[in-house]
Amino acid sequence: MKFQAPKGVSEYFPERSIAFEKVRRELISPAKLAGYKLLELPVFEDTEVFTRGVGESTDVVSKEMYTFEDRGGRSITLRPEGTAGVMRAVIEHGLDRGQLPVKVWYSGPFFRAERPQAGRYRQFYQVGIEAIGLDDPAIDAEVIAIADAGYRNLGLTKFRLDITSLGDSASRAAHREVLVKYISKLDLDEATRARVELNPLRLFDDKREAVVKMMAGAPLLIDYLTPQSASHFEKVKKYLDKLGIRYAINPRMVRGLDYYTGTAFEFVHELLGAQSGLGGGGRYDGLMESLGGQNLSGIGFGLGIDRTLLACEAEGIDLTSQSRPDLYVIPLGEEAKDFSIKFIDDLRKNGAIVDCAYGDRALKGAMKGADKSGAKFAIVIGDSEISSGIGELKNMETGVTSSVTLSAINAKSFN
Ligand code: HAM
Repeated sequence: MKFQAPKGVSEYFPERSIAFEKVRRELISPAKLAGYKLLELPVFEDTEVFTRGVGESTDVVSKEMYTFEDRGGRSITLRPEGTAGVMRAVIEHGLDRGQLPVKVWYSGPFFRAERPQAGRYRQFYQVGIEAIGLDDPAIDAEVIAIADAGYRNLGLTKFRLDITSLGDSASRAAHREVLVKYISKLDLDEATRARVELNPLRLFDDKREAVVKMMAGAPLLIDYLTPQSASHFEKVKKYLDKLGIRYAINPRMVRGLDYYTGTAFEFVHELLGAQSGLGGGGRYDGLMESLGGQNLSGIGFGLGIDRTLLACEAEGIDLTSQSRPDLYVIPLGEEAKDFSIKFIDDLRKNGAIVDCAYGDRALKGAMKGADKSGAKFAIVIGDSEISSGIGELKNMETGVTSSVTLSAINAKSFN
């Protein structure tokens, strides 16, 4: 019997896993510089955390959740996204009782039972941050700038940033009235009508051609912002301008989750085809209260690691080169092996990446191993090297060898 991974999951193994790890690290690093701290959370939660938090009108909740009953008869769901679980943890552990905003980051697998295709998986990976407790527009700009810096750290250039404001509850109420009137005149099927009743904004997200056409003249939320919402959005734009971050206003963007209010944004890559959303996020003013907490504002993002890796590959960015071994050691004989084990360990502790020809291979086979490893240098250690303390360090790119004192070799010898 031959097992296969479940349908639609993403898996990473060498060499691609090295690039995956690098993407994750680079996407997180700007958040750490801005004072965000790790929150490590379970990958499953009570189902209600998501039905209440993310919203019943969304595809994520209505069609895509991995929900099951555990052995105690509780309804459990594998997390389809991170924000609702973060909010559950913040409320449960009173993290919002200290200084605000609470700034956290997280990273790990997420689960959505979507139709698998390139860039869309049933288990995928995100890096996320949340800043909870203040509705200062400078935090909106900070969150967006952190995502932007992550992509730029990786060398990505062919992406754009779309932003909009989904307004506060008063803006949405005013807009909802005219939108519902507009939608009532459209020719929609039963299921779509039911979705619209839960959240009429969902129709802006409907990709079916006929619906897109019908929605072309629909009233836009951005035209119904209250003065407070409009002024918040103006400030976000002003700060982004100050940071030199370019954006396009996309008033039809509604995001796929129901909790958003105010600023919403998405990073879109030019070369990724249908699944071009690299990452996105926004403000969510009612979320905490809807999960039983105090009425605090929050903003955050989720960046897709899988799609960011695909984007790097599409732009021809090489993320694996830095993981090449600096040195490949070839011990010949038992005494050389005794020596090499300690020699290698010392070099690794000194910061060098060092691999070894294990398996007592003959010189020819071991040299092939050195080649295949991609190491920058190789060194053969036999009886004469041990007695003289001197070896021949071979530059694997040029083929040139030079005599070196073994005890003098350190991590800097390979630059
Ligand atoms: P989201 O837009 O649903 O937001 O997901 C964020 C990113 O995760 C997407 O832009 C995409 O790159 C990636 N992603 C989503 N679904 C898949 C999939 N099936 N396969 C591969 N990648 C996928 C959220 O999840 C929000 N929690 C973000 C947030 C945080 N908003 C506020 N705070």
